[in-house]
Amino acid sequence: VPEQVLAGKKVTITAGPTREALDPVRYLSNHSSGKMGFAIAAAAARAGAEVTLIAGPVRLDTPAGVTRVDVVSTDDMLAAAEQAADDSDLFIAAAAVVDFRPAIVAEQKIKKEDGNDSDVLSLVKNPDIVATIAARKNKRPFVVGFAAETEKVIEHAKGKLARKNLDMIVANDVSDPAGGFNSDRNQVVIIDNAGETALPAALKTELAAELIKRIAERAFAGTHP
Ligand code: PMT
Repeated sequence: VPEQVLAGKKVTITAGPTREALDPVRYLSNHSSGKMGFAIAAAAARAGAEVTLIAGPVRLDTPAGVTRVDVVSTDDMLAAAEQAADDSDLFIAAAAVVDFRPAIVAEQKIKKEDGNDSDVLSLVKNPDIVATIAARKNKRPFVVGFAAETEKVIEHAKGKLARKNLDMIVANDVSDPAGGFNSDRNQVVIIDNAGETALPAALKTELAAELIKRIAERAFAGTHP
Protein backbone atom coordinates (compact mmCIF):
# COMPACT_ATOMS: atom_id res chain seq x y z
CA VAL A 1 0.00 0.00 0.00
CA PRO A 2 1.66 3.29 -1.11
CA GLU A 3 1.93 6.06 1.44
CA GLN A 4 -0.68 8.75 0.79
CA VAL A 5 1.86 11.56 1.02
CA LEU A 6 -0.25 13.80 -1.25
CA ALA A 7 -3.69 13.05 0.23
CA GLY A 8 -5.95 16.09 -0.18
CA LYS A 9 -3.42 17.92 -2.39
CA LYS A 10 -4.09 19.26 -5.88
CA VAL A 11 -1.21 18.78 -8.28
CA THR A 12 -0.66 20.06 -11.83
CA ILE A 13 1.98 18.45 -14.04
CA THR A 14 3.16 19.42 -17.54
CA ALA A 15 4.52 16.66 -19.75
CA GLY A 16 5.72 15.96 -23.25
CA PRO A 17 6.87 18.40 -25.92
CA THR A 18 5.09 21.43 -27.28
CA ARG A 19 4.75 21.85 -31.01
CA GLU A 20 4.92 25.09 -33.01
CA ALA A 21 3.50 25.26 -36.51
CA LEU A 22 5.61 26.69 -39.34
CA ASP A 23 2.96 26.25 -41.99
CA PRO A 24 -0.03 23.91 -42.46
CA VAL A 25 2.21 20.82 -42.79
CA ARG A 26 5.33 21.47 -40.69
CA TYR A 27 6.28 22.14 -37.08
CA LEU A 28 9.14 22.72 -34.61
CA SER A 29 9.31 20.34 -31.65
CA ASN A 30 11.67 18.01 -29.74
CA HIS A 31 12.14 14.38 -28.72
CA SER A 32 10.21 14.42 -25.43
CA SER A 33 7.98 11.34 -25.20
CA GLY A 34 6.07 12.45 -22.10
CA LYS A 35 7.14 9.32 -20.19
CA MET A 36 8.73 11.22 -17.28
CA GLY A 37 5.78 13.56 -16.74
CA PHE A 38 3.19 10.80 -17.12
CA ALA A 39 5.08 8.64 -14.59
CA ILE A 40 5.05 11.56 -12.13
CA ALA A 41 1.32 12.05 -12.70
CA ALA A 42 0.68 8.35 -12.02
CA ALA A 43 2.83 8.44 -8.86
CA ALA A 44 1.10 11.60 -7.59
CA ALA A 45 -2.33 10.03 -8.11
CA ARG A 46 -1.22 6.87 -6.27
CA ALA A 47 0.00 9.12 -3.46
CA GLY A 48 -3.56 10.47 -3.07
CA ALA A 49 -3.38 13.72 -5.05
CA GLU A 50 -6.03 15.13 -7.36
CA VAL A 51 -3.92 15.35 -10.52
CA THR A 52 -4.26 17.50 -13.65
CA LEU A 53 -1.85 16.38 -16.37
CA ILE A 54 -1.27 18.92 -19.14
CA ALA A 55 0.09 16.92 -22.03
CA GLY A 56 1.69 18.02 -25.27
CA PRO A 57 1.36 15.74 -28.31
CA VAL A 58 2.45 12.27 -27.04
CA ARG A 59 1.39 8.68 -27.58
CA LEU A 60 0.73 7.56 -24.02
CA ASP A 61 -2.30 6.31 -22.11
CA THR A 62 -3.70 8.51 -19.37
CA PRO A 63 -2.66 7.20 -15.93
CA ALA A 64 -5.47 5.91 -13.68
CA GLY A 65 -7.33 8.59 -11.76
CA VAL A 66 -5.67 11.50 -13.59
CA THR A 67 -7.46 14.37 -15.38
CA ARG A 68 -5.72 14.98 -18.69
CA VAL A 69 -5.73 18.21 -20.70
CA ASP A 70 -4.26 17.81 -24.20
CA VAL A 71 -2.51 20.79 -25.78
CA VAL A 72 -0.28 21.35 -28.80
CA SER A 73 1.33 24.81 -28.76
CA THR A 74 3.26 26.51 -25.97
CA ASP A 75 0.60 29.25 -25.72
CA ASP A 76 -2.07 26.58 -25.21
CA MET A 77 0.07 24.81 -22.57
CA LEU A 78 0.57 28.14 -20.77
CA ALA A 79 -3.19 28.87 -20.77
CA ALA A 80 -4.01 25.40 -19.43
CA ALA A 81 -1.24 25.70 -16.80
CA GLU A 82 -2.44 29.14 -15.61
CA GLN A 83 -5.97 27.82 -15.20
CA ALA A 84 -4.99 24.61 -13.41
CA ALA A 85 -2.43 26.36 -11.17
CA ASP A 86 -5.13 28.67 -9.75
CA ASP A 87 -6.39 25.67 -7.82
CA SER A 88 -3.14 23.76 -7.19
CA ASP A 89 -0.91 23.16 -4.18
CA LEU A 90 1.94 21.81 -6.29
CA PHE A 91 3.07 22.47 -9.89
CA ILE A 92 5.63 20.18 -11.55
CA ALA A 93 7.00 21.13 -14.99
CA ALA A 94 8.38 18.05 -16.75
CA ALA A 95 7.41 19.27 -20.23
CA ALA A 96 10.06 20.05 -22.84
CA VAL A 97 8.64 23.37 -23.99
CA VAL A 98 9.82 24.72 -27.35
CA ASP A 99 11.76 27.87 -26.47
CA PHE A 100 11.37 29.63 -29.82
CA ARG A 101 8.49 29.64 -32.29
CA PRO A 102 8.22 30.95 -35.85
CA ALA A 103 7.51 34.70 -35.87
CA ILE A 104 4.91 34.09 -38.57
CA VAL A 105 2.91 30.93 -39.22
CA ALA A 106 2.62 30.74 -43.01
CA GLU A 107 -0.97 30.32 -44.18
CA GLN A 108 0.13 28.15 -47.08
CA LYS A 109 2.88 25.57 -47.36
CA ILE A 110 6.29 27.29 -47.56
CA LYS A 111 7.75 26.62 -51.04
CA LYS A 112 11.40 26.19 -51.83
CA GLU A 113 10.71 27.65 -55.29
CA ASP A 114 9.73 31.06 -53.85
CA GLY A 115 13.35 32.28 -53.58
CA ASN A 116 13.63 30.78 -50.09
CA ASP A 117 17.28 29.71 -50.14
CA SER A 118 18.41 30.50 -46.59
CA ASP A 119 17.24 32.21 -43.38
CA VAL A 120 13.73 31.05 -44.17
CA LEU A 121 12.70 31.01 -40.51
CA SER A 122 12.50 33.96 -38.21
CA LEU A 123 11.94 32.90 -34.58
CA VAL A 124 10.57 34.65 -31.49
CA LYS A 125 10.86 33.59 -27.85
CA ASN A 126 8.00 31.65 -26.31
CA PRO A 127 6.64 32.47 -22.84
CA ASP A 128 8.24 30.53 -19.97
CA ILE A 129 5.44 28.51 -18.40
CA VAL A 130 7.04 27.39 -15.14
CA ALA A 131 8.60 30.85 -14.55
CA THR A 132 5.18 32.47 -15.10
CA ILE A 133 3.60 30.26 -12.43
CA ALA A 134 6.55 30.73 -10.05
CA ALA A 135 6.41 34.53 -10.44
CA ARG A 136 2.88 34.68 -9.01
CA LYS A 137 2.20 36.71 -5.90
CA ASN A 138 -1.21 35.09 -5.36
CA LYS A 139 -2.32 31.50 -5.82
CA ARG A 140 1.28 30.38 -6.09
CA PRO A 141 1.70 26.61 -5.73
CA PHE A 142 4.98 24.96 -4.65
CA VAL A 143 6.84 24.96 -7.98
CA VAL A 144 9.19 22.22 -9.19
CA GLY A 145 10.99 22.49 -12.53
CA PHE A 146 13.22 20.19 -14.51
CA ALA A 147 16.51 21.18 -16.15
CA ALA A 148 17.51 19.26 -19.26
CA GLU A 149 21.21 19.91 -19.70
CA THR A 150 23.99 18.54 -21.90
CA GLU A 151 26.93 20.10 -19.99
CA LYS A 152 27.65 21.75 -16.60
CA VAL A 153 24.44 20.08 -15.46
CA ILE A 154 24.40 21.16 -11.80
CA GLU A 155 25.63 24.69 -12.48
CA HIS A 156 23.05 25.29 -15.21
CA ALA A 157 20.26 23.73 -13.14
CA LYS A 158 21.10 25.99 -10.18
CA GLY A 159 20.96 28.98 -12.53
CA LYS A 160 17.46 27.98 -13.63
CA LEU A 161 16.34 27.35 -10.03
CA ALA A 162 17.28 30.94 -9.17
CA ARG A 163 16.29 32.72 -12.41
CA LYS A 164 12.87 31.09 -12.62
CA ASN A 165 12.24 31.50 -8.85
CA LEU A 166 11.54 27.76 -8.42
CA ASP A 167 11.29 25.95 -5.09
CA MET A 168 13.07 22.88 -6.40
CA ILE A 169 14.65 21.71 -9.67
CA VAL A 170 15.31 18.23 -11.01
CA ALA A 171 18.57 18.27 -12.97
CA ASN A 172 18.59 15.88 -15.88
CA ASP A 173 21.75 15.12 -17.89
CA VAL A 174 20.23 14.49 -21.31
CA SER A 175 23.56 13.81 -23.02
CA ASP A 176 23.54 10.37 -21.36
CA PRO A 177 21.82 8.01 -23.84
CA ALA A 178 20.77 5.75 -20.93
CA GLY A 179 18.38 8.43 -19.71
CA GLY A 180 16.60 11.65 -20.61
CA PHE A 181 14.46 12.08 -23.72
CA ASN A 182 12.37 9.10 -24.79
CA SER A 183 14.20 6.53 -22.63
CA ASP A 184 12.34 4.35 -20.11
CA ARG A 185 15.06 5.15 -17.59
CA ASN A 186 16.46 8.33 -16.12
CA GLN A 187 19.01 9.63 -13.64
CA VAL A 188 18.57 12.97 -11.89
CA VAL A 189 19.84 15.24 -9.13
CA ILE A 190 17.28 17.09 -7.01
CA ILE A 191 18.38 20.61 -6.09
CA ASP A 192 16.83 23.15 -3.74
CA ASN A 193 18.14 25.83 -1.40
CA ALA A 194 18.98 23.13 1.18
CA GLY A 195 21.34 21.24 -1.11
CA GLU A 196 21.69 18.53 -3.76
CA THR A 197 20.54 14.91 -3.74
CA ALA A 198 21.62 12.55 -6.51
CA LEU A 199 19.17 9.71 -7.10
CA PRO A 200 20.34 6.40 -8.57
CA ALA A 201 19.50 5.63 -12.19
CA ALA A 202 16.14 3.88 -12.36
CA LEU A 203 13.06 3.32 -14.47
CA LYS A 204 11.11 6.57 -14.88
CA THR A 205 8.18 4.88 -13.11
CA GLU A 206 10.34 4.13 -10.04
CA LEU A 207 12.09 7.48 -10.13
CA ALA A 208 8.70 9.24 -10.25
CA ALA A 209 7.60 7.60 -6.98
CA GLU A 210 10.85 8.66 -5.29
CA LEU A 211 10.52 12.22 -6.64
CA ILE A 212 6.94 12.49 -5.36
CA LYS A 213 8.02 11.31 -1.90
CA ARG A 214 10.84 13.85 -1.70
CA ILE A 215 8.83 16.72 -3.20
CA ALA A 216 5.97 16.05 -0.74
CA GLU A 217 8.42 16.11 2.18
CA ARG A 218 9.81 19.49 1.10
CA ALA A 219 6.53 21.07 0.05
CA PHE A 220 4.19 19.89 2.77
CA ALA A 221 6.36 18.81 5.71
CA GLY A 222 4.49 19.52 8.93
CA THR A 223 1.15 20.08 7.21
CA HIS A 224 -1.69 17.64 7.74
CA PRO A 225 -4.29 16.71 5.15
O1 PMT B 1 9.39 13.22 -21.96
P1 PMT B 1 10.50 12.20 -21.81
O2 PMT B 1 10.87 11.56 -23.13
O3 PMT B 1 10.20 11.18 -20.73
O4 PMT B 1 11.84 12.96 -21.34
C1 PMT B 1 11.90 13.56 -20.07
C2 PMT B 1 12.56 14.96 -20.12
C3 PMT B 1 14.04 14.82 -20.47
C4 PMT B 1 11.85 15.84 -21.16
C5 PMT B 1 12.37 15.57 -18.69
O5 PMT B 1 12.99 14.74 -17.73
C6 PMT B 1 12.94 16.97 -18.60
O6 PMT B 1 14.12 17.18 -18.34
N1 PMT B 1 12.05 17.97 -18.83
C7 PMT B 1 12.46 19.38 -18.97
C8 PMT B 1 12.87 19.58 -20.40
C9 PMT B 1 13.30 20.99 -20.70
O7 PMT B 1 12.87 21.52 -21.70
O8 PMT B 1 14.10 21.56 -19.81
P2 PMT B 1 14.67 23.07 -19.88
O9 PMT B 1 15.94 23.03 -19.11
O10 PMT B 1 14.69 23.60 -21.27
O11 PMT B 1 13.57 23.89 -19.07
C10 PMT B 1 13.67 24.16 -17.68
C11 PMT B 1 12.31 24.14 -17.03
O12 PMT B 1 11.50 25.20 -17.54
C12 PMT B 1 11.51 22.85 -17.27
O13 PMT B 1 10.78 22.57 -16.09
C13 PMT B 1 10.56 23.24 -18.40
O14 PMT B 1 9.34 22.51 -18.35
C14 PMT B 1 10.31 24.70 -18.11
N2 PMT B 1 10.03 25.56 -19.28
C15 PMT B 1 10.99 25.77 -20.23
C16 PMT B 1 10.75 26.64 -21.28
C17 PMT B 1 9.48 27.26 -21.37
N3 PMT B 1 9.19 28.09 -22.36
N4 PMT B 1 8.54 27.03 -20.44
C18 PMT B 1 8.79 26.19 -19.39
O15 PMT B 1 7.92 25.98 -18.52
